[in-house]
Amino acid sequence: MNIALDQKFWNDRYEAGTTGWDLGKVSEPIAAYIDQLEDKHLRILIPGCGNAYEAAYLAEKGFQDITLIDIAPKLAQDISERFAQLPQIRVLHGDFFLHEGQYDLILEQTFFCAIDPALRPVYVGKMHDLLAPGGKLAGVLFDTEFSNPGPPFGGKSSEYAVLFQKHFDLRTLTPCYNSAKPRAGNEAFIIAEKASNYK
Ligand SMILES: C[S@@+](CC[C@H](N)C(=O)[O-])C[C@H]1O[C@@H](n2cnc3c(N)ncnc32)[C@H](O)[C@@H]1O
Repeated sequence: MNIALDQKFWNDRYEAGTTGWDLGKVSEPIAAYIDQLEDKHLRILIPGCGNAYEAAYLAEKGFQDITLIDIAPKLAQDISERFAQLPQIRVLHGDFFLHEGQYDLILEQTFFCAIDPALRPVYVGKMHDLLAPGGKLAGVLFDTEFSNPGPPFGGKSSEYAVLFQKHFDLRTLTPCYNSAKPRAGNEAFIIAEKASNYK
């Protein structure tokens, strides 16, 4: 890796409007996952949230405790303004890897693929630390390798299984049937439950 995937890198993307990852609407697989959740008081975190259409969807469905964190200050400012009238959404500008908190559910949507792959084990450990007992990480992971240098960084489900099983019980890691069109056939849906102890 010869580029620093730091605050400046991501903020420059938002300043320039070069945000090719942005679906412009809630991710369909995540919406479907949200639709089957019953407890509207779950403490939910969305790291590397970007424009956080998932947060708007959660609020619309009655969820009461939604935290967003993103490292890009311009983006954090924009979404703070956008969600100002929704007290159930808390927007934080900061680094996920330094964030402290306890959540019942963390939603993954093109954040894992945005970080340096060398940090993946740290990501998994941090997710474990941020989840309360019985908490879950759920979302979408690319299940393909990319020929261009990342981000996005790809990978394979089989590797992810090994990585996540160190700290999680994998409930689901299956090909995604409802991906956004350009990503169809190249994503897996993951539901990983915090294991009570590091394995
Ligand atoms: C590929 S974008 C995805 C944004 C959003 N999840 C989406 O799907 O539209 C990756 C996001 O992660 C943010 N990010 C990257 N590193 C981060 C970190 N260490 N902590 C928090 N946010 C980070 C970037 O600013 C960017 O908004």
